[in-house]
Amino acid sequence: MDQIITLGEFIIQKQGDFPYAKGELSSLLSSIRLAAKVLNSQIGKAGLVDHILGGIGTENVQGEEQKKLDVYANNLFINSLKARHEVCGIASEEEDKLIIFENEGGLNGKYVVLIDPIDGSSNIDVNVSIGTVFAIYRRVSPIGTPAVTEDFLQSGRNQVAAGYVIFGSSTMLVFTSGNGVNGFTYDPSVGVFYLSHPDMKIPESGNIYSINEGNYAHFYPNTKAYVDYCKSIDKSTGRPYSGRYIGSMIADIHRTFLKGGIYMYPKSKVAANGKLRLAYECNPMAFLMEQAGGKASDGHQDTMDIQITDVHQRTPFFAGSKNMVDKLNEFLKG
Ligand code: AHG
Ligand code: MN
Ligand code: MN
Repeated sequence: MDQIITLGEFIIQKQGDFPYAKGELSSLLSSIRLAAKVLNSQIGKAGLVDHILGGIGTENVQGEEQKKLDVYANNLFINSLKARHEVCGIASEEEDKLIIFENEGGLNGKYVVLIDPIDGSSNIDVNVSIGTVFAIYRRVSPIGTPAVTEDFLQSGRNQVAAGYVIFGSSTMLVFTSGNGVNGFTYDPSVGVFYLSHPDMKIPESGNIYSINEGNYAHFYPNTKAYVDYCKSIDKSTGRPYSGRYIGSMIADIHRTFLKGGIYMYPKSKVAANGKLRLAYECNPMAFLMEQAGGKASDGHQDTMDIQITDVHQRTPFFAGSKNMVDKLNEFLKG
């Protein structure tokens, strides 16, 4: 590497690219960076300490079992975002209601953050990659007042920044503020994220499909037809494709960014809108995908064009290499 750039330096260098450059986004991203470091150290101890591993016997608003780490990470991000005074409210997968910061710093905060604090919770206890995914919007309500629901129900196209942290064989933070996608790898020995994947671009085509095929019997015929297509032989297009499914959306999509392919969580006869949440899982990933030259769709329209009416609403989600998502869309129209 000719030049070593840390995430902190990168944020300062690039804050001029941000439409409202006043250092606010830098401060906000630094609070996410700090929370990611703390979370990274806790996840590293997951096999050793009882307060990290396992469930807590409660369910979140989605009716899903909450893991100790879900609750820990949720509180960590809320507290670290609140401390920086750039954010007026948070929507989280783990919180039924919006969290509105009514302290002075919060009232004057210009941004809202929508977050899935831990994605892939079911993988915590089996030592498989998990992550955090977030979307950042500029509030639409007046500064100096408490945030309102409309601040959170904005079109995905209004995102000013989005990103994810993946806690894998190494920890990475990948983000966009609308000028491409950059990935930073964490060096835990010095506590610093270094720019390791500048200007990430997803391959236009790929040969990996990623779906929970155990649900095949529940899929609608068009979805089944596309899965069958992925598995059928055609040497000219490199089929059959390889199947890969980690079961942590962030990890599956991270691989898709680097290797190309398509990630799918379709609607089915037992899940009318699939499983993934538009506001804090699909929209941020769609922003990153488009910024890297890929595509994200619900099978009919681009994910970021979907009308949002509920912060916890689900949507079918297909994301990855442009040519593969286009092909999938053809099948779903058919
Ligand atoms: P979360 O852990 O935030 O609830 O999200 C889990 C999601 C996503 O990460 C993953 O891709 C998907 O659930 C896996 O679901 P299935 O087990 O139904 O395939
Ligand atoms: Mn999730
Ligand atoms: Mn989660």
